[in-house]
Amino acid sequence: GIEVSSLMKETGMVTLDPGFTNTASTTSAITYIDGEAGVLRYRGYPIEQLAEHSSFLEVSYLLIYGELPTADQLTAFTSRVQRHTLLHEDLKRFFDGFPRDAHPMPVLSSAVSALSTFYQDSLSPFDETQVELSTIRLLAKLPTIAAYAHKKSIGQPLLYPDNRLGLVENFLRLSFGLPAEDYEVDPVMVKALDQLFILHADHEQNCSTSTVRLVGSGQANLFASVSAGIHALSGPLHGGANSAVLEMLGDIRKSDDDVDTFMTRVKNKEKGVRLMGFGHRVYKNYDPRAAIIKKTADEILQKLGKRDELLDIAMRLEEIALNDEYFISRKLYPNVDFYTGLIYKAMGFPTKMFTVLFALGRLPGWIAQWREMMEDPQTKIGRPRQVYTGVPERDYVPVPDRG
Ligand code: ACO
Repeated sequence: GIEVSSLMKETGMVTLDPGFTNTASTTSAITYIDGEAGVLRYRGYPIEQLAEHSSFLEVSYLLIYGELPTADQLTAFTSRVQRHTLLHEDLKRFFDGFPRDAHPMPVLSSAVSALSTFYQDSLSPFDETQVELSTIRLLAKLPTIAAYAHKKSIGQPLLYPDNRLGLVENFLRLSFGLPAEDYEVDPVMVKALDQLFILHADHEQNCSTSTVRLVGSGQANLFASVSAGIHALSGPLHGGANSAVLEMLGDIRKSDDDVDTFMTRVKNKEKGVRLMGFGHRVYKNYDPRAAIIKKTADEILQKLGKRDELLDIAMRLEEIALNDEYFISRKLYPNVDFYTGLIYKAMGFPTKMFTVLFALGRLPGWIAQWREMMEDPQTKIGRPRQVYTGVPERDYVPVPDRG
């Protein structure tokens, strides 16, 4: 450990805040969170109201442009996005280059990165028309890319988008449809996925959004910044938690462990054993997104006719945790991803795709935050300081003279 007094002397005014638990990196007018009260609002609108009444594209518009769209604005926005869903034929070939069992997250990130090679006409961070064009291109093409990553992994042919369909319908058809069959879009599934995307759409300065901003602060283009954000999202302590939850539930079911034995291992802090889908850096009461999902998870699973025994394990884990001193004293509650995996599974997505679905939902937030930063005259390149703890100074020793 470093003595605080010597740290002050060494660093002058530099503050040390590992993990940024107390340091704001920016001002922002997009998303408001009150972690103690369990409040989440996009542009002032409570998440509960948006989840119930709004749609994902409408919420995307709200996050990016600051206001809910009028009917005309929403129609124009929707049709612009619809017209950009195709991928360049050469970009489609990229999917052949990855191993068949590739994880779809790095495939997604690589394809987004590659967009900057295809759309060199929309890379300037300061030209309004170009930023607008890359915004629409990303919103339209990410679902196509995500569906293709999935199709490749199961060895099925890639379909072309059908632009008569809405964004979520299109994505479901591209993911599950086959060329020889008509794909019947299930409205229950569309509504559920649309709502999940809304709940994931922004969450202020989380790890991936901070990454998007940091990369963008060096004036890298929107595709490059979002590609970096996708990588940041992939880790199991962030977006990767949604697949980790399902793996955990599956392991509990497969192993001889019962739920209580597993919880004892969590509380003993066995290496690598955490109750995945629990805990949050900001929410210390409950995660309002989890509350909405919990309400709908059971209902959706019933409607899809996919009541899952893993849901029972999840509910049992939650019940134990909410009454256990270990979790209560550390203010650990279910987060957004405790229940999402069960819904994604019921829809037919493999576990590897779960974090990709999170990325689809989070995209408008990344874009909105990147644009807000670019428009802010106060923006500077992100460049944190450090507290050096290495050897102070020493003289070079030639190779033959070293120990
Ligand atoms: N299971 C068991 N113990 C936990 C858990 C958990 N899920 N989360 C935190 N703790 C314990 C820690 O061991 C620590 O205990 P200690 O005080 O005895 O040392 C205490 O609670 C505080 O935890 P930190 O890791 O310091 O909290 P931090 O704010 O850094 O981490 C995080 C937040 C990463 C979300 C953490 O709770 C976690 O790892 N959760 C599981 C992974 C997960 O679900 N991530 C998704 C986050 S939401 C999202 O990205 C959508």
